[in-house]
Amino acid sequence: MERLQKAIADAGYTSRRKAEELIINGKVQVNGKIVTKLGTKVTTNDDIVVEGKLLKKASKVHYLFYKPRGVISSTSDDKGRKTIIDYFDTNKRLYPVGRLDYDASGIIMVTNDGEFANYIMHPSNNITKTYIVKLNGIINGEAINKLKMGIILDNSKSIALRVKLKQKNQQKNTSLVEIVIQEGKNHQIKRMFEAVGYSVIKLKREKIAFLDLKGLRSGQYREITKKELKQLYKKD
Ligand code: URA
Repeated sequence: MERLQKAIADAGYTSRRKAEELIINGKVQVNGKIVTKLGTKVTTNDDIVVEGKLLKKASKVHYLFYKPRGVISSTSDDKGRKTIIDYFDTNKRLYPVGRLDYDASGIIMVTNDGEFANYIMHPSNNITKTYIVKLNGIINGEAINKLKMGIILDNSKSIALRVKLKQKNQQKNTSLVEIVIQEGKNHQIKRMFEAVGYSVIKLKREKIAFLDLKGLRSGQYREITKKELKQLYKKD
């Protein structure tokens, strides 16, 4: 979402100040309706007509990015930390789809397509996310069962579709666990493990639905192919 006057200016039609004048003077339509309120929010999916001319929409792009640890999942940061968008050399208005914590690494989608982002994030679309987690302690069967039964977070149940102990280190008292979930609540994985008595030392997201990090190194990205997009929209 961005302000209408900025969208008009970014499309190269005129300056932001002139765009504001055009809006106030009733020369701008959004989805067929005249809008005179400055600051009206629009998305890349809205039809914007200025003085009778339809603004060209930025072509939609969809990427998979391998986020390194120590990078923030937003478009800007008031503390000056590196953001995911800093890795992309483009004047398109990109943003990440959902979040990965600053100290987490792994796969995250980046796009300028609001409809796509909403689709991926909406819980009813059952998009799975697979994480590999290093835990303080060696996870036991009881904790695994509790995670599978569901943990109440933010007044609703968070269920692990799959939990698998991959490796354990008795000396260091740590374990590596694979966990698959569908929602994307804030710090969900860390909070789920905390609820069953384990703290997360390291967190990596390995997959979103069937998409993984194959061929990517930390800090690199690639386009999601048309075929992959189609498959993401397919319901089982
Ligand atoms: N769960 C977390 O705790 N952190 C993330 O970044 C993603 C899922």
